[in-house]
Amino acid sequence: MPEKDGSRGLALSNNGIRRTRKDNHRFQGLSLLVLLALTYYTFQGFGSVFTHNEEELSAQAVASLARCRSVVAKPGPPPDFHKRTQSDRFAAGTKPVLLKNAKIWTGNKNGTEVIDADILLDKGLIKGIGHVRSQTLAAYQDIEVVDVKGAWVTPGIVDLHSHLGDASSPATSGASGDDNSIKGPIQPWLRSLDGLNTHDDAYQLSISGGVTTALVLPGSANAIGGQAFTIKLRSTAERSPTAMLLEPPFTINNSFPEVAGSTPWRQMKHACGENPSRVYDQTRMDTIWQFREAYNKARELRVKQDQFCAKALNGDRELLESTPFPEDLQWEALADVVRGRVKVQVHCYETVDLDDIVRLTNEFQFPIAAFHHAHEAYLVPDVLKSAYGHPPAVAMFATNARYKREAYRGSEFAPRILAQNGLKVVMKSDHPVLDSRYLVYEAQQAYLYGLPENLAIAAVTSTPASIMGMDHRVGYVKEGWDADLVIWDSHPLALGATPKQVYIDGIPQLKDPHTVEKPRVFQETPRVPNFDQEATDAVKYEGLPPLEPKKAKSSVVVFTNVGSVYTRSNGVIETSFRSVDSDLGIVVVENGKVSCSGSTGSCPSISSLGHAEVIDLKGGSISPGLTTFGAPIGLEEIAQEDSTNDGVVFDAFEDKIPSIVGGDKALIRAVDGLQFGGRDTLLAYRGGVTSAIVAPVHYGFTAGLATSFSTGALSRFSEGSVLQEVTAVHVSVRHQGATPSVSSQIGALRRLLLEPEHHASESEAGKWFGDVGKGKVTLVVDTDSADIIATLVLLKKEVEAKFHSRVKLTIAGGLEAYLLAKELAAADVGVVQISSRPFPTTWEKRRILPGLPLSKKSSVLELLAHNVTVGIGIAESWSARSTRFDIGWIALDAGGDLTMSDALALSSTNLEKLLGREVKDYGMDDLVVTEGGDLLDFGSKVVAIVSPRRELVDLL
Ligand SMILES: *[C@@H]1O[C@H](CO)[C@@H](O)[C@H](O)[C@H]1NC(C)=O
Ligand SMILES: *[C@@H]1O[C@H](CO)[C@@H](O)[C@H](O)[C@H]1NC(C)=O
Ligand SMILES: *[C@@H]1O[C@H](CO)[C@@H](O)[C@H](O)[C@H]1NC(C)=O
Repeated sequence: MPEKDGSRGLALSNNGIRRTRKDNHRFQGLSLLVLLALTYYTFQGFGSVFTHNEEELSAQAVASLARCRSVVAKPGPPPDFHKRTQSDRFAAGTKPVLLKNAKIWTGNKNGTEVIDADILLDKGLIKGIGHVRSQTLAAYQDIEVVDVKGAWVTPGIVDLHSHLGDASSPATSGASGDDNSIKGPIQPWLRSLDGLNTHDDAYQLSISGGVTTALVLPGSANAIGGQAFTIKLRSTAERSPTAMLLEPPFTINNSFPEVAGSTPWRQMKHACGENPSRVYDQTRMDTIWQFREAYNKARELRVKQDQFCAKALNGDRELLESTPFPEDLQWEALADVVRGRVKVQVHCYETVDLDDIVRLTNEFQFPIAAFHHAHEAYLVPDVLKSAYGHPPAVAMFATNARYKREAYRGSEFAPRILAQNGLKVVMKSDHPVLDSRYLVYEAQQAYLYGLPENLAIAAVTSTPASIMGMDHRVGYVKEGWDADLVIWDSHPLALGATPKQVYIDGIPQLKDPHTVEKPRVFQETPRVPNFDQEATDAVKYEGLPPLEPKKAKSSVVVFTNVGSVYTRSNGVIETSFRSVDSDLGIVVVENGKVSCSGSTGSCPSISSLGHAEVIDLKGGSISPGLTTFGAPIGLEEIAQEDSTNDGVVFDAFEDKIPSIVGGDKALIRAVDGLQFGGRDTLLAYRGGVTSAIVAPVHYGFTAGLATSFSTGALSRFSEGSVLQEVTAVHVSVRHQGATPSVSSQIGALRRLLLEPEHHASESEAGKWFGDVGKGKVTLVVDTDSADIIATLVLLKKEVEAKFHSRVKLTIAGGLEAYLLAKELAAADVGVVQISSRPFPTTWEKRRILPGLPLSKKSSVLELLAHNVTVGIGIAESWSARSTRFDIGWIALDAGGDLTMSDALALSSTNLEKLLGREVKDYGMDDLVVTEGGDLLDFGSKVVAIVSPRRELVDLL
C-alpha cells in the first residue's frame, strides 16, 4: 500500500519546482486514489510504490516520475469529474440562460427518452432539467429566459470525422491541404492541431447546422496519418487553435501534471486500402507491413517505458538518477495505442481492409474506436466483432457511395443492418467532403432507410461522443454536461430541420437567427417507407442488388388512392388533380399513357378494365419526372476509376488538341460517350429522376456539347434512350491558377462568339458558336464568381448588338449569382445553381448566401424573387437520387412562398429550358408515381415510372 510519503511526491511538478506543504495537502487525497487506481490498472503485483523523499531528487528524476505517472494514468475523465460546478471552457461574462418549454431528446435510455421540461444553463454547464423553481431562479441576477414553445432540443451535434480547419474553406494553396502529409506512410507523430486554421469559413456554417463538437482527423493519405484532436467550433476570446481544443492530452506541450490519475483520451487516424496505395504508389500488402513494422516498434517502446516506470514508481532511485525516461517523440503516441489509451479512428472500406486491420488489432492487442467509411462493414459484421477488445463502431455517410471501387458496394441500408447486428452506428461528414453543416441530414437519411429513430439521433450526438471518449460531457442533455444544445425548428429527423439557436458552452451562437414556421406535422416523428426487402437484397447480393426496373406485366395499370396528379403542359407544371378530404383519386394507364385520371367515379371501373394491374398509392402522387445536371452521370460509373469512365476532353488552353479530332476547332459531344444502366443512373431513376443532361467531363475551359438521356434506358438502342443528342454548348470560365487567366478565357469566348468565321463554319466549333451568337443554341457557362458573371452579361450584350439576336446564356454553378439577381433578370440570364445548398469550396464562390438560419433567403429563393429562371444541379453522381429531397428542402425553407409546381420546376421544366432541352411533346415525358406522399415528401416511396415514350410502366 502506498504510504503518505510516497503520495507526497506526487505534489512535485515535473520541472522540479517544489510546492509548499500546503499545496501538498490539497493533492494528497486525490493522489492516494490515483495511485490506487493506477497500481490496479497497470502495475498489479509490483508491490509498494515510490517511497523516497523526492525533495532530494534531481530535476531529471522528477520529470521522469511525472512522465511515468502520465504513462500509467487511466484514460478518461477524473473520477470526480461530475463534481465540477463550472466548465473548464466557461467564458467569463456568459449569462445564465433558462430555456422554457423544451421537448428534449436527452440521449438517455438508449436514445428513447424525450421529456418536456425547462433547461437551466450556467457556467458553461447544464445546471438543471425539469421545472426550475422560482427560488432557484431568484438566485440568478442576470438570467436570460427563452420560451422555446415546445421546440425540439437536442444535444449539440457531434461530428466524429471532420477536417474542419485543416482542409479549410475557401481552399487556398497555402492553407487548405494541411490535413495530409506526403512525407511517409507511417507518421503517428503528426498532429491535426498543428494545421488548424482558425479562419475556416465553415466554423460558422457548421454551427448554423447545429454542429458544436468535431473530431478533427488528419487525412487518409497515410496508413498512420497522425493524432487527431477534438474541438468545439465556437470562436474563443484567445482566438487560438489551442483554445478550441476539448480536453487535449498533455502531450500537446509535454507538460505533465503532478497529479495524473487520469489522462484525456488521445485520438489517432489510420487509413488502409486505396488512399495510402495511391499516395505512396504501393500495394495493400506494403501498407499492412508498414503497420506491422510500426506497431512492433510501438510495442517495444511500450515495454521499455513500462519496465522503466515499474522500477521508477517502485522506488528505484538509482535508475531514476542514472537513466532518463525512455522518451521517443516519434513513437510515444503509438505506444499509447498499444496501452489502450488512444481512440483509433480507421479509414477503411472493403472487406479485405477491415479483415487486415482486425488481424492487426489481435496481433498487437489494441482496440480500435471506429472504422470510418467502411462501406462493406454491413456485409461482414462478424469480422468487426472479432476485433481485439471490443467491436469498433462504424462511422458512415448515408448515401455518398460508389465514388471508388472501395465504395462501390456501399448501401444506404448499411446503418440499419449494422445496428441490427448490434454494432454502433455513427453518421459523419468527413467535412469538407460533405458539408458538416448538414450532418443531421445524414442522420435523417439513415433514418429514412431504416435506422431506428433513437439510434439515428444518437448517431450524430451521443454515439460519436462516446466513440471519441467525450460522452462524460457532450452528446447528452443531462445535468452536469456541457451546455451545448440545439433548438430545432422541427423534429430533428424531419427533412430540412434547421437550428433556431445553437448553444456552445452556454453561449448562443446565432445572432438574430432567421426562422420559418413549418407545418405542425414536422414536429412529429417523420413517417418513413418500408425498405425491408431492399435491405435484405443489399446483403443477399453483396452490395450490388439488381437495380433494373421491372416492366408491369399488364398493359393496363390502375393507380388507386391517388392524392394528387401534376402534369406539365407548355413548359409549366400544373396540378391536374388534387384529392379533396379523403376522396382519393384514380389514374388509369394504358400502354404507358394516362388514359383517365380524376376522382374515383370519373374513370371506368377497375373490373371493366380486364386484366389491369392495380396499385394502391395510399394517398401518393403522380408528377413529371425530374432531371439531373451537373455531375458526369452517364459518363462515369466509378468516379475515381478511369477504366469505368468516358474520360476527360482535351482542353484548348492546356493541350494541343490532336488534329485527328479537329484541333481547336473540335467540339466534343457527350452523347458519344454515354454509358447506360450505371448504378448511380438507375438509382436516380428509382428516385424519380428520369432524365439527365450531361456535358463532356472537362477540367479546363473547353467542355463541348451536352446531351440529354433517359436514366431508365439500359442501352443506346432502347426506345427513347437519348432524348436530345445536343442540348447546348458548354464552357467553363474559372480561376484555374495562373494560366489561363480569367481574362484569357473571356477573350477566347469573345472571339468564338463574335468571330465564328475564324473557325471554318463547317467546323464543329464554328457552327455551334455561330449558332449561339444567332440565338439558336444555348450557351451554358460554368462559373460562380459574381465578377465573371457580370462580364458574361456584358459579353452577351456585345454579341447581341453585333448579330441583332437574343443570346441564350445560362450560368451553371452560380453561387454568387444572387448578388446580380436584378441584372440577370433584366438580361434574361438564368442560373442553374450547383449545389442547391451552397458551400464556399473556393475563393470564387466564397460569397454564398447561406440561407436559414443565417440569412432570411437562400440564393435560390433570392434569384426566384427577382424572377430569374432557376434550376438546381448536383456536383457528384451519387447524389442524383436525392434530387427530390433537394427541392423539397428548398420548398420548406421558402416557408410557403413556393408552390409544389414552382419547386418541381427547379429540377424539371426550368432546368430543361435553361439547358437547351427542347421538349416538343409534353405528353411524352416520364411520370413518377409515389406511394404514401408526394414526390417531395421524405416519407413517400417511388413505386413506378410511367413512360408514354417507351409505352410501358416500370415497377420499382
Ligand atoms: C437500443 O435501441 C435499438 C433500436 O431501437 C434496439 O434494437 C436495441 O436493442 C436497444 N438497446 C438497448 C440496450 O436497449
Ligand atoms: C499544456 O497543455 C495543458 C493541456 O491543455 C494545459 O493545461 C497546460 O497549461 C499547458 N502548459 C503549458 C506550460 O503551457
Ligand atoms: C416578378 O414577376 C411577378 C409576376 O410577373 C411580378 O409581379 C413581380 O413584380 C416581379 N418581381 C420583380 C422583382 O421584378
